[in-house]
Amino acid sequence: MTLVRRPLAIRAEIAVPPDKSISHRSLIFNAIASGEAHVSNLLDSEDIRSTQRCLQQLGAEIAWPEGGNTATVSGTGLHGLFESDDVLDCGNSGTTMRLLAGLLAGNRLLSILTGDASLRRRPMARIIGPLRSMGATMFARTGDTLPPLVIKGGDLRGMHYESPVASAQVKSALLLAGLYADGATEVTEPSASRDHTERMLTAMGAQLTAEPGRARIEPGTQLAPLSMHVPGDISSAAPWMVLAACHPSAEIRLTNVNVNPTRTGMLEIMQQMGADIEVLEERLSGGEPIADLRVRSSQLRATDVGGDLVPRAIDELPLVAILGAHAKGTTVVRDATELRVKESDRVEAVTRVLGRMGATVHAREDGFEVEGPAELTGTRVDGGGDHRVGMLGAIAGCLAGGETQVDDDAVGVSYPGFWGELARATGSGVNA
Ligand code: S3P
Repeated sequence: MTLVRRPLAIRAEIAVPPDKSISHRSLIFNAIASGEAHVSNLLDSEDIRSTQRCLQQLGAEIAWPEGGNTATVSGTGLHGLFESDDVLDCGNSGTTMRLLAGLLAGNRLLSILTGDASLRRRPMARIIGPLRSMGATMFARTGDTLPPLVIKGGDLRGMHYESPVASAQVKSALLLAGLYADGATEVTEPSASRDHTERMLTAMGAQLTAEPGRARIEPGTQLAPLSMHVPGDISSAAPWMVLAACHPSAEIRLTNVNVNPTRTGMLEIMQQMGADIEVLEERLSGGEPIADLRVRSSQLRATDVGGDLVPRAIDELPLVAILGAHAKGTTVVRDATELRVKESDRVEAVTRVLGRMGATVHAREDGFEVEGPAELTGTRVDGGGDHRVGMLGAIAGCLAGGETQVDDDAVGVSYPGFWGELARATGSGVNA
């Protein structure tokens, strides 16, 4: 349990941790490249360690010292993975399970993928359906919907797939399977999801064409190793952005943040709400645009979030509830049914945590509505095993009157140094 209080003022510069999505992909894609890649600023978090262990069980060599942020990946080539002699444990990580499922569907191996209690409740029919249509043999629990997953891969057909969900995990799984198919594989989605897979596979020499909402890959090309420096994660910057905008006396500078346009939905939502955010020194790093963000105390107004913005801010949307509680009017998040199938049901989590703290939050089937402005009051909140909910509780606690006790054991999934950073930035966040 951690105790959090509202600081009088906040002046901080924070180097946010490396991007989780890019870190996963740097290991997975380099594991099947032909040669050796050096990845620096790799995120040393539980999720990425799950990906590392699974790939090592499949025969990739990954030298990544404990506590280090540089890894050397010796790829096996497109067809060099081995059959693992044990079940592959993806821990809490949906990205690990879904991307590996696509990769393994193209390999003539028997694989069993499982995960923790949260991951074993997450929907897998979204990848099983299309991968079966490509020719993979796949089974899962509860009518082929929930992990563990059993995959017997090989002999895939290329296909055109119109995904009903905007999901980079689904898209990436199919593009990886497409590397092994007998013809082109094309995926379209209802609105554009993050495009790191397209950028990285293209940089590795894959024959891939992409535009927002559509990606197409030709099979067969051996991938060149991709050495890279992973940029900072805007999803980990978001709690600090929200804290600075909502606190009455704050200025936080966040350095080296990935501002890939498929990830900057939260930036746009906050600008729409009148937040004082400056995007500084925009530059390129490892094929991705990065920038520093300076966020200051702001007068916020309510907004309506939906449509194409949703996949571009999907992991940050719970934090919009905190913004809404500090804005005048009713803030609505809609078209976000996906929030219900993340590491936890994040509609339920937002309603529960902020409701306990005194905000008026109504759950919708596809999101939530918040009435603002509201006075938040410190209380005991539970992250429910979901890293993003634990951080949401901590940030809300730094904005609430009195003391907030946050029960969280999950922030290490994406942000291992979060509590230390919170203590440095706010003088709060003491372990009890
Ligand atoms: C991710 C995609 C998103 C996101 C997740 C990471 C990725 O999931 O929520 O945290 O790395 O591809 P979906 O693709 O399922 O929306």
